[in-house]
Amino acid sequence: CSSSGSLVLARPDDWHVHLRDPSRLADVVPHTSNVFKRALVMPNLTPPIRTAKEAKEYRDLIQAAATAGAREASGEPFEAQMSLYLTDNTTEGMVEEAAASGIVRGYKLYPAGATTNSEFGVTDVKKTEKALRKMAELGLTLQVHGEVTHADVDVFDREAKFIKEVLIPLLDSAPELRVVMEHITTRQAAEFVAAAPDNVGATITPQHILFNRNALFKGGLRPHFYCLPVLKREEHREACLAAATSGSKKFFLGTDSAPHPRGAKESACGCAGIFSAHAALPLYAMAFESVSALDKLEAFASHNGADFYRVPRNTEKVTLVKKPWMVPNEYNFGDTIVVPFYAGEEIPWTVEM
Ligand code: NCD
Ligand code: DOR
Ligand code: ZN
Ligand code: ZN
Repeated sequence: CSSSGSLVLARPDDWHVHLRDPSRLADVVPHTSNVFKRALVMPNLTPPIRTAKEAKEYRDLIQAAATAGAREASGEPFEAQMSLYLTDNTTEGMVEEAAASGIVRGYKLYPAGATTNSEFGVTDVKKTEKALRKMAELGLTLQVHGEVTHADVDVFDREAKFIKEVLIPLLDSAPELRVVMEHITTRQAAEFVAAAPDNVGATITPQHILFNRNALFKGGLRPHFYCLPVLKREEHREACLAAATSGSKKFFLGTDSAPHPRGAKESACGCAGIFSAHAALPLYAMAFESVSALDKLEAFASHNGADFYRVPRNTEKVTLVKKPWMVPNEYNFGDTIVVPFYAGEEIPWTVEM
């Protein structure tokens, strides 16, 4: 690699992405499948994807949308990996079916009320103990949205509080379970994961290592910087960026790209979620370059997640070139449009197609 020219890395995987409803897949999936080999698809549709059967049907539609992408000519096919929605009613039998399906990697734990479409989420982790033990036994992984939801907890403290109140007891009750703390945003989470045993990992988004919470209020209220967990203060951004670039195998790429219709974001009560799939790898390259750590990008983007999920590392390559491009003001999103991250701005890195 060289700092000015280009960077070749194994084709990356996105271990956390929202691809949305069937009616929008044709517009959403190619942004991811053109660059990434695999993506772990989040289940928070309405209603959520809760069973292996629902995941199979959804995955077939995703794969059909992926073949329409520009990546078709470039070699190996895109492979959607599915995460099911864990609820108070997830049974051991359902976990067995999920493990047997071959397409499900694990379950996503959303504390009820934590974020978009989380009203089906878990009300008390104790209710899921049997399912979690069965997951551990069968090699499935738990993806965790790590925020407590009580109205009396400050929004900026919800992740740190979750670690103490929910995650540590959960790991005590299912010590063999592989757990990914998704989209970490705080120094506390970065430190906790770094010090935890090898069965605990974390994904990190581009926005949480590029921006701190000032971005939400720069010159006025900025809905396109709003996601959950919300952006934190600068010390936390620095800690998450240090974790991503540390070389530790515990941290890996998960964009949390989460498109919403423009009107649902630019609203009196705007939805949480940042659409970043159109520029995911270049955004991470910007963040890594800012601390002269481009040499750590391949492990973070292409190796650590595959190793954690125990799937083969990708053999195909992608090339990032230092060539600026202008992000469009909008992309199609089914019958509406989505405003992408960095809309109307220049990004210095391009993925060669
Ligand atoms: C809706 C969307 O983004 O289109 N959700 C979804 O598809 N899962 C709207 C919303 O989440 O608020
Ligand atoms: O900002 C977010 N958007 N955070 C989440 O956890 C969910 C996501 C979404 O689905 O919109
Ligand atoms: Zn989440
Ligand atoms: Zn998410």
